Parts: sequence; structure tokens; C-alpha cells
Amino acid sequence: MTGQSSLGDLFSLEGRTAVVTGGSSGIGRAIATALANAGAAVVVLARGRQALDATVTDLTDAGCRAAAVVGDLSTRAGIRSACDDVVEPFGEPDVVVSSAGINLRPPMAEIDEAVWDATMTVNLEAPFWLGQRFGPGMAERGYGRLIHVSSQQAHRAFVTSGAYGVSKGGLESLARSQAEAWSPHGVTANTLVPGFVLTPLNRRLQDDPARVAALADRTLVGRNGLPADFAGPAVFLASAASSYVTGQSIHVDGGFSVH
Ligand SMILES: NC(=O)c1ccc[n+]([C@@H]2O[C@H](COP(=O)([O-])OP(=O)(O)OC[C@H]3O[C@@H](n4cnc5c(N)ncnc54)[C@H](OP(=O)(O)O)[C@@H]3O)[C@@H](O)[C@H]2O)c1
Repeated sequence: MTGQSSLGDLFSLEGRTAVVTGGSSGIGRAIATALANAGAAVVVLARGRQALDATVTDLTDAGCRAAAVVGDLSTRAGIRSACDDVVEPFGEPDVVVSSAGINLRPPMAEIDEAVWDATMTVNLEAPFWLGQRFGPGMAERGYGRLIHVSSQQAHRAFVTSGAYGVSKGGLESLARSQAEAWSPHGVTANTLVPGFVLTPLNRRLQDDPARVAALADRTLVGRNGLPADFAGPAVFLASAASSYVTGQSIHVDGGFSVH
């Protein structure tokens, strides 16, 4: 690349294909929308057909290329099927965003095998196996982007972090391992770290307006996060603009983590 690159050279995703797990809701949906608007053909994957179809309809109505794949990332068999199914619409992905996540929040002493297994499988194993499936091909083609969505709970305990915080800590380590393996071949791996974002995931916490206001006060920007706050950072990480950024945890939290 020469010294002067056009905005398009840096940020366009024209000709790229992307898979966004959890792309039917919240942060994942905003990221899928941003990548599609930047020119990528986007596959959104989740369990619920209705929200997937609504997302794809919105994207295709806006002139974007998008497809839905129903998949359940809570078992290894489900992850394997998902890996096979997501290549059907547009072929091998150049960008894989792992936004699907669950936060079950039982008290620490009540975490049983079912909670541990589901949390680790959706939040940590699925991004790992997706990387195993698609990372080597990206490296062979010389371009790839693995983008994970972690949590402030990878860095601090917050509202019964339990297994969830552990899974997110592992996820940021996974990005570093993937970065070490594949960055020499044009494949970067990075993590977006949200603070408190108003999505269905934490609807229960949003029932307490005083709590929501207190969390907003803890940011430097003065408000809680919105899914759209992840659009720009995701396009940056998916595009050529971020070629020299790898293994990083990028906090998209209005300054929550530094306050
Ligand atoms: N909201 C926050 O404050 C916050 C803070 C820190 C980190 N995060 C992280 O951000 C990511 C996105 O969260 P969000 O707030 O946008 O949550 P959300 O609105 O609840 O979206 C979660 C998405 O994951 C999908 N999903 C859940 N379980 C799945 C499974 N077993 N297989 C496949 N897809 C599954 C959901 O669709 P289906 O239910 O239809 O499968 C949905 O599309 C998560 O990794 C979360 O941990 C969020």
C-alpha cells in the first residue's frame, strides 16, 4: 500500500464475505448492518428464525447482500453444523465476528455443569472452533479478520460474573493466540470490549432505572452504550484499515474502563 490510500481502499468491504454470529440482535445486529453497508455480503447466524429473517429483510431492503442461517452454538455438534452451513450463501468468509453470547448469572455457588458448559460453549468454544475452521483458509488467501465480542467482565467482576466473566477472559486470550498464529499471513484477531450496552441481553438490569443511570455516570461520555456504537469499530477491524492491529482488546465503552 502506498502512503496515500483513499477512504475506500482503507474501509470498503466490497467483495468481502462476513459471518456474524448473534447477528440477529443487539451488538451483533448493529455490526452485521455496518459490515453490509460497507459492502460485505453478510451471513447472520442465531437460533431464532424470526429475528434473523427480520434482520436480513432490513439489509436486503437497503440494497445490501445478506442471508440468514439458523444455528445453535451451545453444543460442539451445533458449532460443526453452523460452520458447514454459513458457507452456503456466499462461500468462505473473509471476516468472522463472534457476537453470540449468553449471560446466565446464577450465584457462584449455584453454577452447575449445565450453566458452565452452555456458557463456555457459546461464548468461548464457538469462537475457537469457528477460528479453527476458517482461520487457515483465510491465511492461505492472505486476508482474514477474526473479531470477538468480549466484555468488561473479562477485566473486572460485575454483577455475578461467574462463568460468564471466565469465558470472556478466555476469549481475549483466544484472540491473542489466533493473532500469534495467523497474523503473518494477513489474518488479524481482535476483541471488542463493551461496557454496559442497552440490549436484550441485560434487559433484567435495565428494569432498575437508578442502576442504569449510575452506570451511565461511570462512563466518561455520560451515557450507556448502544449497539450502533460498535458499527465504526467493527468496520475498522474488518477492513484493510486495521492491517497492523492484531491481538488487541479494544474497549468500546464510553470510557467506563478508565474511570
Ligand atoms: N449488552 C451488554 O451490555 C454487553 C456487555 C458486554 C458484553 N456483551 C457481549 O456482546 C455480545 C452481544 O450481546 P448483546 O448484548 O448484543 O446480546 P443480545 O441482544 O441478547 O444478542 C445475543 C445474540 O446471540 C444469539 N445467541 C444466543 N445464544 C445463541 C446460541 N446458542 N447459538 C447461536 N446464537 C445464539 C442471539 O440469538 P438467538 O437467541 O435467537 O439465538 C442473539 O442474536 C455478547 O457476546 C455479550 O456477551 C454485551
